[in-house]
Amino acid sequence: MGVVLALETSCDETAAAIVSDGRQVLSSKLVSQTSIHRQYGGVVPEVAARYHLEDINQVIEETLAEAGLRANQLDAIACTNGPGLIGTLLVGLSAAKALSWSWGLPLITVDHLYSHVCANFLDTDLEPPFICLLVSGGHTQVMHFSDYQNWRILGQTLDDAAGEAYDKVARLLALGYPGGPAIDKTAKDGDPRAFRFPEGVVSGYDFSFSGLKTAVLRTVERLPASPSSGDSEGVSAQTANLAASFQDAVNRVLVKKTFKAMQEFGLDKVALAGGVAANSDLRRRFSEAALEQMPGSAKVSDGSACGGKVKIYMPPIKYCTDNAAMVAAGAHFAGTSVNLDATAYSRQLA
Ligand code: KG4
Ligand code: ZN
Repeated sequence: MGVVLALETSCDETAAAIVSDGRQVLSSKLVSQTSIHRQYGGVVPEVAARYHLEDINQVIEETLAEAGLRANQLDAIACTNGPGLIGTLLVGLSAAKALSWSWGLPLITVDHLYSHVCANFLDTDLEPPFICLLVSGGHTQVMHFSDYQNWRILGQTLDDAAGEAYDKVARLLALGYPGGPAIDKTAKDGDPRAFRFPEGVVSGYDFSFSGLKTAVLRTVERLPASPSSGDSEGVSAQTANLAASFQDAVNRVLVKKTFKAMQEFGLDKVALAGGVAANSDLRRRFSEAALEQMPGSAKVSDGSACGGKVKIYMPPIKYCTDNAAMVAAGAHFAGTSVNLDATAYSRQLA
């Protein structure tokens, strides 16, 4: 497909990137709205759309400048058109349409979830078949990729997504927004064995996290002192233990089912994707599980050398959370060529 300029505006990051042949990142830029939405405790869709509109032109210009490229050196324009917040998606889609029309370049749309998986192709040699654990704010899925364009969802969450559970429990523990990184940080000072929370075991490759979330809530209600607010006094030892024990319960079941799928399908490659893939405990467990399953296994992304039996792929943190480099990769491997009538969608397509 050549050199693709991609845009990503599905939630609260205004991102643009230029990637060559779906693998080589030439530039990647983004403006995060986290500090704006923090005051509301979550993303406010209308506010997010307004800021995307303000930032998108500059992000595109900076991306072209960083790559040292001009419009006539690009081969296509890509963008995410769903799932996500419809108002924010439309900003990216409209900008992509304008660029495609004015520069005379093909327009390609990419599914946001598929693009998260494609973060694993950036600067690596990953090729199907492989198993991917996709853990984002809205989805939790164990996927089997037989080809770049062909995949099957082996199992998924029956209620809350893993990221959603992280965010809700962080709120419960008054750790602030965004919740996932706050739990990750707080849990480092806690004992994961302090509380025994249910793993939420469901048959096959499915997950359930709402019972776990309720268990944390009931425990917090029963404890004598409520957790501290995470202000200047810092987080209490009890809150750190709750965060660590919750994180342990979520990550344990995620890793167990992912590696079970790898074994069952006789595969030797496993990838991690989505915002929760940034979680330090989950990344550590992935490496440990690979070693446990097959001694001599090695991590291949993150700059480590391969040579083991099981190869695990974990995108660098900046490509786990929303970014446009993954969208450009998605456009290369399985994008949809569209015309100027293309629309956006808020929920995952069946
Ligand atoms: O993949 P993403 O952008 O969401 C969707 O596309 O839906 O990821 C956002 C999610 C949020 O739930 C956020 O709390 C979580 O990823 N997240 C983390 C970490 N960093 C982001 N969860 C746990 N640990 C982290 N370090
Ligand atoms: Zn995302």
